[in-house]
Amino acid sequence: MSKNILVTGSSGLIGGIILKNNSKNNLFGLDVAPSLYPNHEISDISNSKKLENIFLKNNIEVVVHLAGKTSVNGTWNELIGNNFDGTANIFEASKNSGVDKVIFASSNHAVGLFENDNPYKQIISGNYEDVKAYDLIKSNCELRPDSLYGVSKAFGENIGRYYYETFGLKSACLRIGSVRPVDTPIEGNFNRFFSTWCSHKDISGLIEACINSEKIGFNIFYGVSDNKWKIWDISDQQELLNFHPESNAEIFRKQNS
Ligand SMILES: NC(=O)c1ccc[n+]([C@@H]2O[C@H](COP(=O)([O-])OP(=O)(O)OC[C@H]3O[C@@H](n4cnc5c(N)ncnc54)[C@H](O)[C@@H]3O)[C@@H](O)[C@H]2O)c1
Repeated sequence: MSKNILVTGSSGLIGGIILKNNSKNNLFGLDVAPSLYPNHEISDISNSKKLENIFLKNNIEVVVHLAGKTSVNGTWNELIGNNFDGTANIFEASKNSGVDKVIFASSNHAVGLFENDNPYKQIISGNYEDVKAYDLIKSNCELRPDSLYGVSKAFGENIGRYYYETFGLKSACLRIGSVRPVDTPIEGNFNRFFSTWCSHKDISGLIEACINSEKIGFNIFYGVSDNKWKIWDISDQQELLNFHPESNAEIFRKQNS
């Protein structure tokens, strides 16, 4: 049965991918920026009461929360309203209006400091010859944010856990890798995308699987394609989401070598 889904940050890159690909549900967009999408509300996420009214008016069952400052160099002043207050408002309004589930766009930067350690450091810089067998970074690893932006995403995950354990509001936090406007991992000699790339098909499939899954309580998943050199563990997605990503960055490297 189709669900009423509200997507915040719907005028952005991932919002646009979802609106284009998720046709089974009734989708509503919300963003400070305009959109050509017909069900679109121009609104800031800074006002929890206003969000609550929008959720109630549209009988929203699932919120896909993407809106926010997206730069890893974001300053405290840029992040405080858009990422900290805004995300808290989304959870509060969702609780008050009977939303069943929030899908929160967290980020790999919530755990980015693992990339200072080998073998992850070697892998993301493309020094594969030095890499021995290695453990993938699990979704229940320590939070190790690498920036204030990463801290804002770790905050979002923590508030998600609090609202689930205290109020029963379900949430899936997606530590998204690299979704790019041009849907490839190729950028000059930059090797990191061969580990972190997430194709448009895979991010939209992951979000759709989170919308449909009945097994979500409070969960964290990595949003990454099935890349040969991925560093994050996605083995729990088949069982909990009935989903496995299809793309693999390595195919592009072979085409370009
Ligand atoms: N693209 C990636 O590779 C990637 C990786 C990790 C995490 N993420 C996260 O996924 C989400 C979406 O990323 P994206 O690449 O589509 O970003 P984007 O910058 O293309 O889109 C973000 C959208 O949020 C809107 N927005 C910002 N502040 C707002 C506010 N206060 N109220 C309402 N709307 C607001 C912007 O207008 C924009 O349309 C972000 O939260 C980002 O941090 C993205």
